[in-house]
Amino acid sequence: MSATTSTHLTAIGTPPWTRDDMRAKLETFATLYANRPITNNAGGMSSSHLFLLWYAMQALKPKVIIECGVWRGQGTWAIEQACPDAELYCIDINWKNLVYRSTKATYLSKDFEKHDWSHVPKEETVIFFDDHIDAVARTQAVQKLGFRHILFEDNYPPQDGSDVYSLKMAFMHAGLKASQHWRAIAGRLIGTRSDRTITPNASDDAKLRQVIDVYEEMPPVFTLPVTRWGDAWDNENYPTPEPLLASVTEPWQQVYYDEAQWYTWLCYVRLARR
Ligand SMILES: C[S@@+](CC[C@H](N)C(=O)[O-])C[C@H]1O[C@@H](n2cnc3c(N)ncnc32)[C@H](O)[C@@H]1O
Repeated sequence: MSATTSTHLTAIGTPPWTRDDMRAKLETFATLYANRPITNNAGGMSSSHLFLLWYAMQALKPKVIIECGVWRGQGTWAIEQACPDAELYCIDINWKNLVYRSTKATYLSKDFEKHDWSHVPKEETVIFFDDHIDAVARTQAVQKLGFRHILFEDNYPPQDGSDVYSLKMAFMHAGLKASQHWRAIAGRLIGTRSDRTITPNASDDAKLRQVIDVYEEMPPVFTLPVTRWGDAWDNENYPTPEPLLASVTEPWQQVYYDEAQWYTWLCYVRLARR
């Protein structure tokens, strides 16, 4: 589904790539993924999201990339595979889990909004957020700073009670019942997650549409009948773009199928020029 008026939208505007091109690059990434530095990236991205991050970065070809929420560093590795010449800033507030360390990136420990980015070419920078901070607030902050290209991980629908307010929840007018979910409670204990309830509303949707030019939930490689939470993966509760592949026909596709449950509605946002 792709509509601009429904609360079940998965896209606004036209993305700077095609589904055919995405499909054509799946095998290349599967080969790279077989040589990833971290075999089991629990708590971080697997092939179902890393392909999308890698694909978007190699398509956008930014001069500068800011990665917020590094964890063990698997995302940093995928970004480097996509854009080996980009200037890369990696931000996390806790480096205890880092396994893969880039020799080229600049590592920063303060929140994205606490840095001076005046030296960075705004039009040619992509910011990747996987830090579990409110995505509506992040979008507004990024827009004020003059950047235009964002990728958000964990762009969850409201149904599973995720711990972070996502653009998808805002577009679905769902708000965030943070206090009702164990993940939000666990997140608050480690001090990184949303600790506020956001009342269901249409105003965040309206605010986002004023600044967003393109919103694209990147398609899963495969979908499964049931989500990782055990309920039916239907378009009412989990509006999702059509998967890139319908069934496994080549051995290299198997990893995408095996990890399909971890899809997170990762999205690309291009902000309107100010
Ligand atoms: C889900 S993990 C990131 C996973 C990683 N992108 C991957 O796929 O391997 C979230 C990370 O965000 C970090 N984090 C929390 N608050 C942050 C902030 N304000 N800025 C940057 N990172 C933050 C956490 O320390 C944690 O390492």
